[in-house]
Amino acid sequence: MLLFIPSIDAILSAITILSLTSPVVADCTRDVLIAAADAYVAAQGNGTLGDLQTLLTSDYKYQENNKASTVAAGVISTALKIANRRTTADTVACASYTELVATTPKPYVIGTQLRHTADGTQITLIDVIAATTGSLSFNAAKTLGYIQKETWSTIDPSKYDTRELLQQTADAYLDMWTNASAYNAVPWGTPCERVEGSALNSPCTVGAPKGGSTNRINMRRYVIDQNFGSAEVQCDFAAVGGVADSHEFRLENGKLRYVDLS
Ligand SMILES: *[C@@H]1O[C@H](CO)[C@@H](O)[C@H](O)[C@H]1NC(C)=O
Ligand SMILES: *[C@@H]1O[C@H](CO)[C@@H](O)[C@H](O)[C@H]1NC(C)=O
Repeated sequence: MLLFIPSIDAILSAITILSLTSPVVADCTRDVLIAAADAYVAAQGNGTLGDLQTLLTSDYKYQENNKASTVAAGVISTALKIANRRTTADTVACASYTELVATTPKPYVIGTQLRHTADGTQITLIDVIAATTGSLSFNAAKTLGYIQKETWSTIDPSKYDTRELLQQTADAYLDMWTNASAYNAVPWGTPCERVEGSALNSPCTVGAPKGGSTNRINMRRYVIDQNFGSAEVQCDFAAVGGVADSHEFRLENGKLRYVDLS
């Protein structure tokens, strides 16, 4: 008696039902992420959400400098003349990172991650790190001059560094404050430059710590884009007293080339 073995017809119809009813999971594409970042940049340029509004989930969150906030209270409601803009896209995490520099009407260096729903069509979180007059080492005009000289060309797919290496490099770098051996885990490149507000540090090892702090840099949120060799981290820089921070790392051929702070 083979009572528990269903007929082939039953199996086939079950498969048909499954394939008809399984939700189609669309990929989170680069194009969708970049289009949303474009809408974000337009919103910051106008000081009003505009088209970005249509991309937000009904319960989206806005946070600024690691604290829950609102669009109305945030820098996004101040129209800024955007002097420089660069976006990377993470199709695995379904998120983007945009670096903005404005010098008028008020100087700002802004790093913003947009987190999307799994299919990419909607934004669940606008996560802004905004530095302005009074922030540590802040000088938007100098930052602008330095980053405009950087070359963030796309990396040939045959030379992509792995997502793991990109994230490990970012983590090793941020661990240097609390872990004396992390310095040697960073694949320093030559040349390597670090833009830190008013200062261009070359080589980027200038001032790099070898442990000493007990407060691990935490709240790490990543956007990783192999296409640009980039790992960007928004975090709480607990090692120096809890400064809201964005660090973006660019690797070329497995070596650290640029570090951009905002
Ligand atoms: C204002 O929004 C419009 C419509 O999205 C956009 O085309 C324009 O570039 C924005 N203006 C600025 C200064 O960003
Ligand atoms: C310190 O960094 C090294 C190199 O990355 C790593 O192997 C080690 O596990 C780290 N130690 C701690 C306590 O995180």
